[in-house]
Amino acid sequence: MSPTPPRIAILGAGSIGCYLGGRLAPVADITLIGRPAGMAVLRDKGLTLTTSGASAHRLPPTALRTATHADAAGDADIVLVTVKSADTLTAARDLAPHLGARTVVCSFQNGLRNTRLLREALPGHTVLAGMVPYNVVQTEPGHFHQGSGGPLMLDDTPAARPLTAALAEAGLAVRPHADMRGVQHAKLLMNLNNALNALSGQPLRHQLAQRAFRRCLALCQSEALAAFRAEGITPVRLTPVPTALTPHLLRLPDGLFRRVARRTLAIDAHARSSMWEDLERGRATEIDHLQGEIVAMAARHSLPAPVSARVVRLVHEAETAPPGIRRAWTGPDLLSELTSARRSL
Ligand SMILES: NC(=O)c1ccc[n+]([C@@H]2O[C@H](COP(=O)([O-])OP(=O)(O)OC[C@H]3O[C@@H](n4cnc5c(N)ncnc54)[C@H](OP(=O)(O)O)[C@@H]3O)[C@@H](O)[C@H]2O)c1
Repeated sequence: MSPTPPRIAILGAGSIGCYLGGRLAPVADITLIGRPAGMAVLRDKGLTLTTSGASAHRLPPTALRTATHADAAGDADIVLVTVKSADTLTAARDLAPHLGARTVVCSFQNGLRNTRLLREALPGHTVLAGMVPYNVVQTEPGHFHQGSGGPLMLDDTPAARPLTAALAEAGLAVRPHADMRGVQHAKLLMNLNNALNALSGQPLRHQLAQRAFRRCLALCQSEALAAFRAEGITPVRLTPVPTALTPHLLRLPDGLFRRVARRTLAIDAHARSSMWEDLERGRATEIDHLQGEIVAMAARHSLPAPVSARVVRLVHEAETAPPGIRRAWTGPDLLSELTSARRSL
């Protein structure tokens, strides 16, 4: 352990916040800031973190400091922001009056706007962009499971070094990167499957093993890549296959895809997207920050994005569906819905 463990506050102690906070707890002085109900669970049961093939990390309630207000980040050296995108601005405004002058903030969120929002709302502070490549869900209260792998990524700047060092010391793979904007766009391409997975109601590995769903994802990614080109963005390559070729890979027949995309399917059998979890819990999803971002970007360049727009609509419909009657889309039905959206241009 470092001589003086960094004080790290985590604003948004849900799946990612609890996972990162729990892993960092042995090497840092952690404060988890979340909703009263979630924090009561942690104070009662503690935290259990699991990953397939590795031993569980268990933190008893006495090993955790929890809070429900952003003022608890007042003495932090580093604040990790892990709220959903729609809550970023509120989180930043809550934090602003309490942060110390030298506190470094790092967004470990999906989407393209969070880092900028935080920078605008927290002038004078260093705000880092971070990226979490893996899937984490809460399998039962206080138990968070990491269902896939990959290294965390964050800005390669001197201000990020204490955080990078703490993450590495905690045994979390972490890779600093000079082009986090490109990383975030590459992650968005992957996150376009969150909605398709949520609409399918199936575990990720099973859903992605089906060509019809992969063709849906290829349609979404092709629109996104066209919008990125128009915007002048080159997504960073996060997988062995160049991003521009991913839609072609996704369209391969199942057997061939299984052979060439082993890493894509290296997901726990039961893992699902966090958007599926949001629908299950009746919460608003991040769809406006994922496919919705592609619709907005395409519109800025007068490009069509009918597939992304249809996915946004389907997810909003699913958000408002009465419990128990949400449609579980099959791959062929969803593909037919999205191709008809494209044809109706
Ligand atoms: N889960 C994953 O697999 C995964 C993987 C990579 C990246 N990400 C990204 O990481 C971010 C967080 O995702 P998540 O799945 O961890 O979300 P989550 O489980 O919903 O966690 C966020 C938590 O923050 C709470 N919260 C929101 N505003 C707050 C505030 N002002 N003060 C205290 N607590 C607040 C939320 O409560 P309420 O629900 O009551 O609002 C929720 O409990 C998202 O951008 C997501 O896309 C997620």
